[in-house]
Amino acid sequence: VESVIVAIDGPSGTGKSSTSKAVAAALGLSYLDTGAQYRAITWWMISNGVDTQDAAAIATAAGKPVIVSGTDPAEPTITVDGEDTSAAIRTQAVTSKVSAVSAVPEVRALITELQRSIAAAAEKGIVVEGRDIGTTVLPDADLKIFLTASPEARAARRSGEIKGADVAATREALIKRDAADSSRKTSPLAKADDAVEVDTTALTLQQVIECVVSLVEEKR
Ligand code: C5P
Repeated sequence: VESVIVAIDGPSGTGKSSTSKAVAAALGLSYLDTGAQYRAITWWMISNGVDTQDAAAIATAAGKPVIVSGTDPAEPTITVDGEDTSAAIRTQAVTSKVSAVSAVPEVRALITELQRSIAAAAEKGIVVEGRDIGTTVLPDADLKIFLTASPEARAARRSGEIKGADVAATREALIKRDAADSSRKTSPLAKADDAVEVDTTALTLQQVIECVVSLVEEKR
């Protein structure tokens, strides 16, 4: 395969972003963080006073923001209407509202279309990370990976990324977000039937990267 498409899905704190960026960089592929796109649209809703509990209001506004994703794994920026929101989308305010916004079907339809066009434009191939990439966005991906880890490991990793974070509170918030993402009607977080499941609980990041790189190389 000249151009390879890799889908990496799984819940939060499994190392999806770190793994996906490193694999893309190692193999010279583009990279797309689809969670950042849902965060960006959520950031826009909050910034523009749209009630994130009001699905009809979100559906109406969904097409307004122009979201542009950088696909360089070394510097995956994201802009909304030309404004760099790479840092703003990582705040607690956005994290706590993103599941509600991303559950709205009109939001998913627009973002899914955007994701497919970005993947189609990546000449050398792309690593796309998210929740529904293998099941819905790119069902014909050359390789599908589903990363998992114990809730304890995931909470510990996420807490390590946030200064002064409380591990127990982080664990509760993660479990709540995964439950919301897994139970929504439109393209929930799920493992595709043909995905390779990698349990990262007892693995170092380097081991996970090596594992995925060798799986991609088998496909090329
Ligand atoms: O990966 P990250 O934690 O940044 O994703 C933020 C949120 O975006 C997820 O909790 C989920 O609600 C949503 N998301 C999604 N589908 C994707 C990627 C992310 O619904 N493909």
